[in-house]
Amino acid sequence: MLETVIKRDRDLGTPARGTQADACLVTLTIDGQEISVPEGTSVMRAAAEAGINIPKLCATDSLEPFGSCRLCLVQIDGRRGYPASCTTPVEDGMVVYTETPKLHDLRRGVMELYISDHPLDCLTCPANGDCELQDMAGVVGLRAVRYGYDGANHLKDKTDASNPYFSYDPSKCIVCNRCVRACEETQGTFALTISGKGFASRVTAGQNQSFLESDCVSCGACVQACPTSTLQEKSVIMMGQAEHSVITTCAYCGVGCGFKAEMKGQEVVRMVPWKDGQANRGHACVKGRFAWGYTTHKERVLNPMIRKNITDPWREVSWEEAIAYTASEFRRLQATYGRDSIGGITSSRCTNEETWLVQKLVRAAFGTNNVDTCARVCHSPTGYGLKQTLGESAGTQTFDSVMHTDVVVLMGANPSSAHPVFASRLKRRLRQGARLIVIDPRRIELVNSPHIKADYHLPVRPGTNVALLTALAHVIVTENLVAEDFVAQRCEAKAFNEWRDFVARPENSPEATADITGVPAADVRGAARLYATGGNGSIYYGLGVTEHSQGSTAVMAIANLAMATGNIGREGVGVNPLRGQNNVQGSCDMGSFPHELPGYRHVSDNAARAQFEADWGVTLQPEPGLRIPNMFEAALGGSFKGLYCQGEDIVQSDPNTQHVAASLAAMECIVVQDLFLNETAKYAHVFLPGSSFLEKDGTFTNAERRISRVRKVMEPRNGMADWEITVALSNALGYPMNYTHPSEIMDEIARLTPTFTGVTYAKLDQMGSLQWPCNEAAPDGTPIMHIDEFVRGKGKFMITKYIPSDERSTRKFPLLLTTGRILSQYNVGAQTRRTHNVAWHSEDVLETHPQDAEDRGVSEGDWVGVQSRSGETVLRATLTDRVQPGVVYTTFHFPESGANVVTTDNSDWATNCPEYKVTAVQVMRVSQPSEWQRQWSRFADIQHKLLRERTRETDAALVSK
Ligand code: SF4
Ligand code: SF4
Ligand code: SF4
Ligand code: FES
Repeated sequence: MLETVIKRDRDLGTPARGTQADACLVTLTIDGQEISVPEGTSVMRAAAEAGINIPKLCATDSLEPFGSCRLCLVQIDGRRGYPASCTTPVEDGMVVYTETPKLHDLRRGVMELYISDHPLDCLTCPANGDCELQDMAGVVGLRAVRYGYDGANHLKDKTDASNPYFSYDPSKCIVCNRCVRACEETQGTFALTISGKGFASRVTAGQNQSFLESDCVSCGACVQACPTSTLQEKSVIMMGQAEHSVITTCAYCGVGCGFKAEMKGQEVVRMVPWKDGQANRGHACVKGRFAWGYTTHKERVLNPMIRKNITDPWREVSWEEAIAYTASEFRRLQATYGRDSIGGITSSRCTNEETWLVQKLVRAAFGTNNVDTCARVCHSPTGYGLKQTLGESAGTQTFDSVMHTDVVVLMGANPSSAHPVFASRLKRRLRQGARLIVIDPRRIELVNSPHIKADYHLPVRPGTNVALLTALAHVIVTENLVAEDFVAQRCEAKAFNEWRDFVARPENSPEATADITGVPAADVRGAARLYATGGNGSIYYGLGVTEHSQGSTAVMAIANLAMATGNIGREGVGVNPLRGQNNVQGSCDMGSFPHELPGYRHVSDNAARAQFEADWGVTLQPEPGLRIPNMFEAALGGSFKGLYCQGEDIVQSDPNTQHVAASLAAMECIVVQDLFLNETAKYAHVFLPGSSFLEKDGTFTNAERRISRVRKVMEPRNGMADWEITVALSNALGYPMNYTHPSEIMDEIARLTPTFTGVTYAKLDQMGSLQWPCNEAAPDGTPIMHIDEFVRGKGKFMITKYIPSDERSTRKFPLLLTTGRILSQYNVGAQTRRTHNVAWHSEDVLETHPQDAEDRGVSEGDWVGVQSRSGETVLRATLTDRVQPGVVYTTFHFPESGANVVTTDNSDWATNCPEYKVTAVQVMRVSQPSEWQRQWSRFADIQHKLLRERTRETDAALVSK
């Protein structure tokens, strides 16, 4: 997986049409060689598969052929002229010649025309060595340009450098249209066109705008598709071509895109989406492709630091001292306040191996089950809801499966922002004709975007998902749309009958629930009929489903719908939670919850515990430990005193910020392991510098249960990988851990986790990635789950009674606030705020319906106070009818916005997942920051000063040496 020389991926010219195994084959002869390929294959691709490379410029195998450059001409027996091989499909018995003197002449002529209007600056061009035009000039044997270089040309056209990551230099453009097609076909944004005709034709972004001003979302697909240096990464312009590459996995969202990190020594030159990446198939978004600058940002803290009180300046210490101090503090706390007075939080951003070690440290070295993870605050209801109904707490499909779906239900998820590469695949399927039902309080982009229009948008009132889902089920049952055979064969009859009776009740009808959900009954009926009868029906959902007081109930209601319609257990269907962070799935699998050992086995399960005890040589506690909210309560109550927090900024990400901050302030030893002095670290006593994904080996597990390798492309700048820090801490605590490489941790994971039995680094290298379960029954992994039977045997329908949230609009708080993400930023923003992505989103704003704004005298850009029963913050308002009247929306990427100062500690009844998506608020025009913001600003200033003083101490020490 390490390439010592950068090789361009082999390009077969046009996309594959089926496989040798499943397609009807056609046999033809190319340059005397007989070859059989699937029907519909182009002559160009057939030749490439026979090892014959026909010259080309406008064709590439990630895009449909276009036939504009005329370089790929061939001769075919019985055909007049010289057809373009990229647009000519193979035929049985066809005889093709790719190299004849006439073809050579024609191709040279084409190249002469291109080169006569192209700068001859190859030696100083950033694409030198990676330019298809340059290559083709060589391939066709171009030796002279008969027309000279003095005719009309584009050589003085101005470069558009507005995008922070790539530039567009039209003087180098050969108008091959690859960028336009990439934006349409691969990305689905349609931001580019070729404007003008003939000689005047050129690539235009948006309505003749700069790239930055246009609809371009900076995914980079056009840059990757461009065969010249016209669209070029600025990092390549600055640094030149890379010299080696390493395959690794993106550390942002749950899509888990594979990348080739192209390197020069220890520096990244560019990240190129891996063509063989099974999650992303060569595509990426602005975060994974471009937003990696944070890894070398000057604000990274690279040396360990300790302090007695959070009002003290930080003292930089050696790793040995930091680890010894942490261990002695944790032991002191346990000796004084009891074994359960400390705990740990694992991170969904860290690798499986790192997460495994943290939960092992807590259970084996701390001797408690006080371990939890940030999945608590996002997808814990998915784990619970799917386990109850289907028997396995994970999504059922691959991302590729969406290409076989006929009807998509997209609920509480905005993939164009949060899972962009999946969104591109989904859009492609929708453009092919699949139908779409969007259930979301906001009019998200997919409701109506270029060449896509949802059949139904059900703008559900926040907090009423369960009523809506049950109404959908009511229609399916009462209109006899149930897949009776599937249910009879695959599901528990008693539970189904009870469920059928329940959902059929009149109070669950769309008409009866319309006042609750705010969705017209006719739309609910239409959507239910479409999902139940439209062919393969798939459900994709996100945090808009889980982050509610009835999050687990809504997940079960979704599983009920899939079972009732037989939409589970094959390609194109299923229940698909779109996991937020890169390794949320993995952090749950690795036993991060206080009640579960790895592999979702309850800590009270004697047999499971015995297996771990034998392997780890310790006695484990049989009682569940504290969840994150319980840790906060216990801290305020005085019984919880110490926390090891790896890669998780709980002060910014958890609800009710003031409550979280007060809990942390009440503890005696908070240890934060992270890249930056984040909001949580401002309350810390020990700071252990973490390493970025580019600096470590391990694995991530994405939303499809796909385990992919993360590979070290540079040495850890802090001197230690995260897993090594946990190992050192465990050893200092007296519980020995001995690993020399993360692969040994994976061996232990496989030994102790039934769904990982067959996973090794060697197998991952061989297969590219693996979807669990991967064991004796499924040695190559399991792309689709529940095919013949559910993991729990029979599927179980669950009753989903709607219980209104306590959080509802009142006279005092008449609006409902809901929160979410934006494309260019990622969660608490610690990474993306430290990149050029701030060009697109530099502050969180409050989306407000124009009617609500007018009622309050609020205009575009005004400062508004947002007040709930938890607290108050101030944001700038933006007026939009994307939100419905009565609903306001914001993101939470900037600490000073304080979105979570306003959210409450209401939570899901089963899992304690916070109800981020429903907060009753009042909004009013204000002219100054809130009291919380003033306090936050003072505290942040003090903490930054204490950090700076640490720096000065170090510098002084260095000078005196
Ligand atoms: S970067 Fe992506 S969205 Fe922007 S123009 Fe290129 S392909 Fe389109
Ligand atoms: S910008 Fe690049 S990909 Fe687009 S038309 Fe010009 S040369 Fe082709
Ligand atoms: S879609 Fe997600 S995994 Fe892929 S590049 Fe973007 S952030 Fe990374
Ligand atoms: S590659 Fe076939 S016409 Fe351009």
